[in-house]
Amino acid sequence: MKEDTRSVAELIASQKPGYSLEQRFYTDPDIYELEIEKIINRNWILAGHASQLPEPGDFKVLKVGREAAIIVRGSDGELNGFANVCRHRGSLVCLDAAGHVDKFVCPYHGWMYDIDGDLIAARNMPDDFDKSDFSLKPVSVGVVHGLIFVCFTDDPPSLEGARRDLAEAMAMFDFPNLKVAAQKSYEIPANWKLSIENYQECYHCATAHPEYARMHTLMLDHKKRERLQGSMQAKMAACGVQDIFLDFLDTAARPGEIGYGYSRTALFEKYKTGSKDGGPVAPLLGEFTDYDGGASDFSFGAFSFLLAYSDHVVAYVFTPIEHHISNCEIYWLVRSDAKEGEDYDVDSLTWLWDITTQADKAIIVNNSKGVHSKYYQPGPFSGMEEPERKYIEWILQELQRP
Ligand code: FES
Ligand SMILES: [Fe+2]
Repeated sequence: MKEDTRSVAELIASQKPGYSLEQRFYTDPDIYELEIEKIINRNWILAGHASQLPEPGDFKVLKVGREAAIIVRGSDGELNGFANVCRHRGSLVCLDAAGHVDKFVCPYHGWMYDIDGDLIAARNMPDDFDKSDFSLKPVSVGVVHGLIFVCFTDDPPSLEGARRDLAEAMAMFDFPNLKVAAQKSYEIPANWKLSIENYQECYHCATAHPEYARMHTLMLDHKKRERLQGSMQAKMAACGVQDIFLDFLDTAARPGEIGYGYSRTALFEKYKTGSKDGGPVAPLLGEFTDYDGGASDFSFGAFSFLLAYSDHVVAYVFTPIEHHISNCEIYWLVRSDAKEGEDYDVDSLTWLWDITTQADKAIIVNNSKGVHSKYYQPGPFSGMEEPERKYIEWILQELQRP
């Protein structure tokens, strides 16, 4: 096969609308570098829930590509982010994924930083060495109704629109008062876009996810879905929740803002929530007084997606590790006063999305293998892959941003 020597601009120009991406978008390390600069480091990425870091000194680390942020509750009780890079000679400072400290000690030569990121001790440095010049570098951290987001730029897009427009929908589930009941990482040996594109479409659900397809209606035709949608809406008021008509799931954003979205979809009649048999797995959330037979989708930016049932929330975060490896992090959230073993059981809570994500991982890896073949050629999207089509259009648009 002849080597494809087209520039990125030429490649984008030759991309056929309504078709999957050209091969090099998945395989070319130079395009990945461009994505880091134009997309990955410019987007807010979900890093967990504020309840995971209740006390000053509580921290967790979020890794995205080559970057890692230490998110720590500071001495003033606020959440801050710092690049996990020592100001001496650049070692990682914090090697643990999460925990509690009263200071961070670099494992290389022992420079010490307090929980506000300030350098407090460095042995044997010259007399004119001023510690205040060597604080850890800040990384942007934002909180939206309890959800922690990180952005690896000093000039991140605003979260205000998401905070405002999703406030009512998030209040239904009382997002600020959730807690993380379980968290799992799935490393997927495939380019990050393949992982997210798969999440964007449910064309594959009927073939790849028999468990999911039994209860979720996204793969139904319009008419059948509408009927179920109507019966859910009728039940919503009786279950104490408002019917909020925001039906958009959008990666694209207003200028200077993160893209965000919300929609609520009916489950099949006998299913109350996303579980093995459709039965409850945790106490009802927020405003719910009963199960209304629906599930809400939230999206925040290009990497973070949440699925909110009446009794729990599942948060999906897709991040690149390298250009050919991605990570899918899943958080299962329940109400903060729910007790493990009494009110919920982690295995029952996580069953559906664990099994579904393992199946997704397998199909994404198969997809990646085929996409690397010399015989791969972009193929046409079905009507059910509309969100994916929009997603890749957005990617191409961002890559062309100045
Ligand atoms: S690199 Fe951290 S103390 Fe030297
Ligand atoms: Fe899937």
